[in-house]
Amino acid sequence: MSSLEGRVALITGAGSGLGRSHAELLSERGAKIIVQDRDRDGAEETAASVRANGRDVHVMVGDVRDSQGFAQQAAEAMDRVGLVDILVNNAGISSRRRPFEEIDDDVLAEMFDINVKGAYIATRAVLPGMKDRRHGRIINTSSIYGMMGADAGSHYSSAKAALIGLTKAWAKEFAPWNILVNAVAPGYIPTALGDRPGMEEIRAQRLQTILLGHEGDPRDISHAVAYFASDDGKYVTGQVLSPNGGVVI
Ligand SMILES: NC(=O)c1ccc[n+]([C@@H]2O[C@H](COP(=O)([O-])OP(=O)(O)OC[C@H]3O[C@@H](n4cnc5c(N)ncnc54)[C@H](O)[C@@H]3O)[C@@H](O)[C@H]2O)c1
Repeated sequence: MSSLEGRVALITGAGSGLGRSHAELLSERGAKIIVQDRDRDGAEETAASVRANGRDVHVMVGDVRDSQGFAQQAAEAMDRVGLVDILVNNAGISSRRRPFEEIDDDVLAEMFDINVKGAYIATRAVLPGMKDRRHGRIINTSSIYGMMGADAGSHYSSAKAALIGLTKAWAKEFAPWNILVNAVAPGYIPTALGDRPGMEEIRAQRLQTILLGHEGDPRDISHAVAYFASDDGKYVTGQVLSPNGGVVI
């Protein structure tokens, strides 16, 4: 695996779960890390873990929906750590299963604002620096549900499918600046995201659908992110890589 020495990676939603794992793996590979999350304690825990890898780290606490706040904090972070080479748009929410009739405007807006608009806001903050240097990697976070649909979860499925659409559109639009845009579409990875009442039963049902017979580990997704972020992925853009144990093939 190619080194990320000298690179700066900004990871949104890096205060827990997959985002924390990405921060840890990318820093092990040599990158300096900007940890972004709305949860200060989680972000600080991730930062401590990155520091333990001997890498420079900067923490941004805020909401990816706050366009102005994000831009200002990202500018401060880049002043301190360096311009962002790798952006991982990871912040996201899911929700309990909801039939169509329960998906009102507020539920829909929250889902799209965090998962989709958040990716726009973060990308807007780092794109000028990437364009100036004619180098950049943007990695979006979709889901198997963005590819196969979720039963009673059309708000989540449609937001995650939107991330596939914008990955391909941005890949076309940003290619002239050597900015590569790809997406990961994780399968079932136990994190706080799915930690809800009644989840045990759902997890047991899901196991039946996984060809490899077990759920994944955050690192399974981080390895895909590191591939897109490094020189190993230098000829790859507009692609979706879905570590999912064979749920979707
Ligand atoms: N875990 C899975 O099985 C799975 C599967 C497919 C896709 N995903 C996607 O992976 C990403 C990470 O999920 P996870 O499983 O690590 O979940 P998680 O809940 O452990 O982590 C999400 C992080 O995002 C942060 N966050 C949420 N809303 C935010 C906002 N508005 N502004 C800033 N930070 C915010 C949270 O504080 C949290 O730290 C999400 O986009 C999720 O949809 C996860």
